[in-house]
Amino acid sequence: MGRSEIVRVEGLEKIYGYGRNALRVLKNVSLGISRGEIVSIVGPSGAGKSTLLNIMGCLDGFQAGNLVIKGRDVSSFSVEDLSDFRNLHIGFIFQLHNLLPEFTALENVMFPLLIRRMGKRQTRARAMEMIDRFDLADRSHHKPSELSGGECQRIAVARALIGGPEIILADEPTGSLDSENSRKLIDILFDLGKEKSTTIVIVTHSGEIAGKTERTVTLVDGEIRTDVKNGGAPGGGEEGPI
Ligand SMILES: Nc1ncnc2c1ncn2[C@@H]1O[C@H](COP(=O)(O)OP(=O)(O)O)[C@@H](O)[C@H]1O
Ligand SMILES: [Mg+2]
Repeated sequence: MGRSEIVRVEGLEKIYGYGRNALRVLKNVSLGISRGEIVSIVGPSGAGKSTLLNIMGCLDGFQAGNLVIKGRDVSSFSVEDLSDFRNLHIGFIFQLHNLLPEFTALENVMFPLLIRRMGKRQTRARAMEMIDRFDLADRSHHKPSELSGGECQRIAVARALIGGPEIILADEPTGSLDSENSRKLIDILFDLGKEKSTTIVIVTHSGEIAGKTERTVTLVDGEIRTDVKNGGAPGGGEEGPI
């Protein structure tokens, strides 16, 4: 295991269903991600990209293999420990923003800090600062239904970043956005990530977005097909390009 590795997936097996209906979705997947690295995961629909990201985000279990995050074997955690660990270290961005509809943009962004029992005044100030980075200060008191898709997704990214997670996992965060909104979101996300040396793993269908990441892992039919550093040199993981 590399010293600077923040996430290590080893021999991961994920099977949905049982018996004759069993579907082997991840097949012996091994992958290491370094601290501060920005990695894209690409591949055809149904390849297992979301499954892999959900597992790395401790949102889903698996049948065999290991998942080590920040040097800790998270599969041994209790449910409570896991949710604390996730809240502290991992920001997850979903394809559909997943904002709570009955709360304002500001309140949605405040949640991760309120869960940590940070005081309301300080939380509000931090959330407003973050929302301002996304150019949405004037929209902060609106509910998701009163915001555009691009605005909602930017709020969702602000919510994922507010707690200063070391790891950001984003599952096709621009899947529902036009190219201008998509570019805006990715630029802020990557800029903020680089500023704080945040590790970012992003699933995307966009070659343009993948090209902005340092390394691209291609998943096909539950297996890692290629793993390349962008800009020439092969590697990043053990598997070079095939
Ligand atoms: N909860 C589930 N139950 C059964 N099969 C699932 C479930 N979630 C995903 N799958 C199947 O697992 C495979 C991989 O899905 P997914 O990880 O969502 O792929 P991707 O994100 O690459 O499109 C697909 O064949 C999908 O139908
Ligand atoms: Mg998916």
